[in-house]
Amino acid sequence: MSSTDRLRVVVLISGRGSNFIAIHQAIAEQRIPADIVAVISNKADAAGLDYARQAGIATHVIEHQAFPDRASFDREMLRVIDSYQPGLVVLAGFMRILSGEFVRHYRGRLINIHPSLLPRFPGLNTHQRAIDAGEQEHGATVHFVEEEVDSGEIIIQARVPVLASDTEETLAARVLEQEHKIYPAAVKWIAEGKKTPKPTME
Ligand code: GRF
Repeated sequence: MSSTDRLRVVVLISGRGSNFIAIHQAIAEQRIPADIVAVISNKADAAGLDYARQAGIATHVIEHQAFPDRASFDREMLRVIDSYQPGLVVLAGFMRILSGEFVRHYRGRLINIHPSLLPRFPGLNTHQRAIDAGEQEHGATVHFVEEEVDSGEIIIQARVPVLASDTEETLAARVLEQEHKIYPAAVKWIAEGKKTPKPTME
């Protein structure tokens, strides 16, 4: 497969970047016909940026504090992302809510991973909330991004048991292990043209 057939992926992170690294490693092992062409962080100290630099991937820091409002931050993000002409934009622990304009611009080629079995527990603190709710099962979801937070067509989910002895940390670790499997799997399906979003009624 020539590089022109390969999916161009831009990854957005805010921190650790372990999902980005899992996707990058799957690509490096030639399991996904894609290339990560840029990693963008809204935080200068995101650990995932160091990995990206060492891997020779272009990086950008676009700090939201430098912009007067969400719309102007998103416009700058959009400008930088579009300069890479991506076929897919991957949110991997990107901790900013994106504007409707941004989401509409990338609709169908913007995906996110969320640490719960959506539609259960959208939002933050999902692991503690799953424990507090007495759930027996918890997990993670990869989905196409729609304007409403943590909504959008589900691509793949992974389930893990919630154990009586679980703390937020032990449950998060069990879920994260699965995230590192399902996110590369989702990117692979999209790169191979096996998964496209269902058409929506406008
Ligand atoms: C993951 O748990 C992901 O589900 C959530 O944020 C976390 C990011 O972790 N959206 P990492 O930065 O990929 O290590």
